[in-house]
This record gives sequence, C-alpha cells and structure tokens, in this order.
Amino acid sequence: MLTMIVVTDKNGGIARDGGIPWHCPADLKFFKTMTEGSPMIMGHTTWDTLPLVVKARRCIVLSRDFSFPAWRNMSSVQETIRMALDATENMYVIGGESIYNQFLPYCGIIYKTVIPYDFHCDQVFCESPREWRHESTDSLEGPVYNKDGAEVSCRTPYMKLLSRMPL
Ligand SMILES: NC(=O)c1ccc[n+]([C@@H]2O[C@H](COP(=O)([O-])OP(=O)(O)OC[C@H]3O[C@@H](n4cnc5c(N)ncnc54)[C@H](OP(=O)(O)O)[C@@H]3O)[C@@H](O)[C@H]2O)c1
Repeated sequence: MLTMIVVTDKNGGIARDGGIPWHCPADLKFFKTMTEGSPMIMGHTTWDTLPLVVKARRCIVLSRDFSFPAWRNMSSVQETIRMALDATENMYVIGGESIYNQFLPYCGIIYKTVIPYDFHCDQVFCESPREWRHESTDSLEGPVYNKDGAEVSCRTPYMKLLSRMPL
C-alpha cells in the first residue's frame, strides 16, 4: 500500500525558494514515528535536502540520474508503483511537489499536517475533497519557527487523516 505524508501551510503551501520555510518539531516527530522502518518514496530534489541520518534509511528516489547512493534509484513512476504493488509492506510517499502530484492517484491514505499560517510558498499540495474522506483530526502541540529561528505566532498545527473515497 502507498501512504502519502505531507505538511502544508494554511494555503496548501509546501515549500518556498527550494526548501520548507518552517521548522515544526512536533511534525518532525510525527513524521519520524510514522515512517520509521518503512521505505520512503521521494524525488531527487527532496533527497538532496535530507540530512544524512534520513538518507541512510530505505529511500526510494526517482531520478534520471543514477549516480547517487540511495537505497533504490527509480527512473519512472510506473516502475516504482510496480515495486510497491509487489511489496508486502506499506511505503510512504514523502514529496516533493512533483512526486505528490504523480503518486496521489495511487495512494489510499494521506497524513496531512497543516500549519495554520501563511508562509507565502511557491510550491503547493492539494487533494480534491471529492476524492478524499476526512477521517480524523489531531492537534500537534508545540511551537513553529520560521527559517530565522523566530517563533511564529499561529494556531496549533493539526494532522488530518484522509482516506480515498470508494468509487
Ligand atoms: N512540505 C512537505 O511536506 C515537503 C515534503 C517533501 C519535500 N518538500 C519540498 O518540496 C520541494 C521539492 O519538490 P520538487 O517538486 O521541486 O522536487 P521533487 O519532487 O522532490 O524532485 C523532483 C525530481 O525528481 C525526479 N523525478 C520526478 N518525477 C520523475 C519521474 N516521473 N521519473 C523520473 N524522475 C522523476 C527528477 O529528478 P532528476 O532531475 O534527477 O531527473 C526531478 O527533477 C523542496 O523544496 C522540498 O523541501 C516539502
């Protein structure tokens, strides 16, 4: 099964100027808890932004360039979907924008953290409410910082669990 995990600002923004413009420790902890031990599917650009400790995990990276040492290098969405269908374990689609767009039709669940603040992002994620059912919402307590390390004044971030509507 394929599960998507994403964090957005209040407008669905996921990144600005090539990076995530916030630091939310509670969401990072949630991400780690959810994905620990599972393969993670991502694009080359996102791979480049990851710390070494995450790169050392089972990262499946889409790229036309096979010269970097990911756990698996994949050259197409179809090849990656075939591998996921053959697997017995859940895999997480972790971004970025191009990978979210291409894999959304193949995912059954979305874990979407929302930080209720506008970060003026230039890359976005949005799912159609007609295709996704809202199952639950949980608060993620704790501060959110901007890229300068200043605490951002915003309401409590929350995590929405969405499942694909039956056809
Ligand atoms: N807020 C969040 O939850 C979140 C999560 C993850 C990432 N992000 C942010 O998202 C941004 C990156 O998103 P992005 O869309 O620019 O990049 P991306 O999706 O991470 O990676 C794009 C790259 O993946 C490869 N690729 C994509 N589709 C492919 C396909 N069908 N076949 C083969 N290779 C394919 C290509 O690599 P090559 O050029 O090497 O061929 C492409 O340049 C970053 O700023 C990151 O920080 C945000």
